[in-house]
Amino acid sequence: MRKLAAGNWKMNGMAASLSEVTALLAAHPAPGCEMLLCPPATLVAAMAAQARGSALQVGGQDCHAKLSGAHTGDISAAMLADAGASHVILGHSERRADHGESDEDVRMKTGAAWAAGLVAVVCVGETEAQRDAGQTLAVVGAQLKASLPEGATAANLVIAYEPVWAIGTGRTPTLAEIAEVHGFLRAELTARFGAEAGGMRLLYGGSVKPSNATEIFALADVDGALVGGASLKAADFGAIVAALSAA
Ligand code: 13P
Repeated sequence: MRKLAAGNWKMNGMAASLSEVTALLAAHPAPGCEMLLCPPATLVAAMAAQARGSALQVGGQDCHAKLSGAHTGDISAAMLADAGASHVILGHSERRADHGESDEDVRMKTGAAWAAGLVAVVCVGETEAQRDAGQTLAVVGAQLKASLPEGATAANLVIAYEPVWAIGTGRTPTLAEIAEVHGFLRAELTARFGAEAGGMRLLYGGSVKPSNATEIFALADVDGALVGGASLKAADFGAIVAALSAA
């Protein structure tokens, strides 16, 4: 399987930030892994134009569950595809927290993404309180089950395990904890989707940076990363791309 280095710019990035993409492509014209950046919606079309013909893929950070209609302020999966996106992040913990997105919302959005031909990058992860209570596998297992429609394949689905308490904090789970969750996710996906699950990319996300990427990428069932803060700078994201290419 081709591993995937994905960056989530969140609500960061102006037109001038596209110079980071220029620098990234200059430094990593042919990486040994897939490379994806998900800028804010305002930059998707411009970044996709910049990335055309390169190794970089571009994605959105959310989409509506419907393909069009009277939903002021929302963006459909078809619009993202039309702007040049190939992927969309769905069910990020910030959307689950800030916008009350439920597993069912994520499942409907995932179906919409697939209908528009996008790869869905579906996020799961426990809070610190849930981990302290020993509920991590139960929580991510329930999210995984309820957030995915039937019909997931290695080509249309990527899963990102992002512990909420590790996002933007500089803290990460131990390597054993990451390996435990990823092994569990693979087993759950295999139980539901069969052999296809062996090819689904399982990304780890939460305070991934150049200094910890190599040890995380060495773990079984870690097929890449979903990177927040460190994806904003070409030098940092490029170092993570290089670490994944070497894994
Ligand atoms: P950080 O890498 O900034 O911790 O963010 C992770 C994340 O939420 C990516 O979606």
